[in-house]
Amino acid sequence: MKKRYAVILAAGQGTRMKSKLYKVLHPVMGRPMVQHVMNQIKTANLDQIVTVVGFGAEAVEEKIGNGNESKFVIQEEQLGTGHAVQQAEALLKDKEGTTIVVCGDTPLITGQTFQELFDHHEQENASATILSTKVDNPTGYGRVIRNNTGEVERIVEQKDASESELNVKEINTGTYCFDNKSLFRALKEVSNENAQGEYYLPDVIEILRGHDKKVSAFSTPNEEETLGVNDRVALAQAEKVMKNRVNEKHMRNGVTIIDPNNTYIGLDVIIEQDVLIHPGSIIKGNSIIKTNAEIGPHSEIVNCTVGDGTVIHQSVASDSQIGSNTKIGPYANIRPSASIGNKVKIGNFVEVKKSVIGDESKVSHLSYIGDAEIGTNVNVGCGTITVNYDGKNKHLTKIEDDAFIGCNSNLVAPITIGKGSFVAAGSTITKNVPEDSLSVARARQENKEGYAKRLKN
Ligand code: UD1
Ligand code: CA
Repeated sequence: MKKRYAVILAAGQGTRMKSKLYKVLHPVMGRPMVQHVMNQIKTANLDQIVTVVGFGAEAVEEKIGNGNESKFVIQEEQLGTGHAVQQAEALLKDKEGTTIVVCGDTPLITGQTFQELFDHHEQENASATILSTKVDNPTGYGRVIRNNTGEVERIVEQKDASESELNVKEINTGTYCFDNKSLFRALKEVSNENAQGEYYLPDVIEILRGHDKKVSAFSTPNEEETLGVNDRVALAQAEKVMKNRVNEKHMRNGVTIIDPNNTYIGLDVIIEQDVLIHPGSIIKGNSIIKTNAEIGPHSEIVNCTVGDGTVIHQSVASDSQIGSNTKIGPYANIRPSASIGNKVKIGNFVEVKKSVIGDESKVSHLSYIGDAEIGTNVNVGCGTITVNYDGKNKHLTKIEDDAFIGCNSNLVAPITIGKGSFVAAGSTITKNVPEDSLSVARARQENKEGYAKRLKN
């Protein structure tokens, strides 16, 4: 098989984004655009990838990593896409094989489409093959100009196009395969005499034609993939396309998503079949949602494992483990390092942080549980607070199995509430409670009979 190389163009500043952030680092579904391109291109089995970086170079290198098969070159001044490819000359020009050039701002093109382009290029035995597509609104893209017999002649940029050329619906997606040596030879002939005063890579097409080389275009039917992100409107479009792609994958795998337009699932999330996702749910990071779980409406889950049959309604959870057949919410906040067991109930306005909650325990209403270890079958009454912070340090609250904490109790840590014990409502507990004890820590009630009536008179 012929050797394959790739050049990723990622040096442009991205003026139209109006951003301090380098264009190709703008994230689509939480991942920089250039990283999507890199991940997809890697599936095409390349011998070498050269990424052209400029403004913000270090940040790009950091995001996509440097290695043997992936190298960076710097384009000091952004003089155009042709000039950008020339920066890879020292690394590539003497190599035999095929070079694919892709833009760092087309994050939706899939590895499969790249593969189809390679295949087409090799079958046609062409010197250059453009990945093109037909769109209803070609505004902003370069147009693929063909002659009477349908052969590709050249590409004309929007700003240089004549009235009739502007009507052409076949666009240049910014991705091409080239015979490597022919590419670098032709680049030397590219001039910057055009509306933008730039060295255009697409001009190579006409130059190769002039040398009687075979030039072809592979028109992909997957128009949706070819979006070039130049501004924030396109960025939102890319987000939408990729979001739908992810949602569709999950639905095909047996996940019910009630309103896919209003459901946001991260690229690395794993969801088992028969999970039900209600509108307004966001599931991100390395989350795993097990079978028969029910998420939402309006829940945000980040880096959590959610057990089978668990329900999370109108709640937030991050960096935590949640067991099976547990009920969370509405309006619960599960903060990092919570480990919640099976058949647990965490009810409304309950905040849990860095705590273990054993199987079949309940914290049903209005509580703060932080730095706690709660055993199994514990009932934490409404309004209970673990007083974990003394202004300097955080301390541990232990509540052993089968304990019952009355409403509105303060458990001042470090403290242990023994197995099977009972804390009376309204207590502020500062000393350990032994197993099976009743602990009351509040002023004794005194009734002054008739006093209120006397006051009123
Ligand atoms: C480019 C193509 C256009 C095509 C469109 C597809 C040219 C002249 N035009 O237009 O035919 O329809 O992509 O999306 O190529 N870059 C550099 N160095 C530079 C200039 C650009 O690395 O000096 C990089 C950018 O970071 C970007 C890519 O090249 O990733 C494309 O540049 P951009 O300015 O976005 O080109 P378009 O105007 O979109
Ligand atoms: Ca672009």
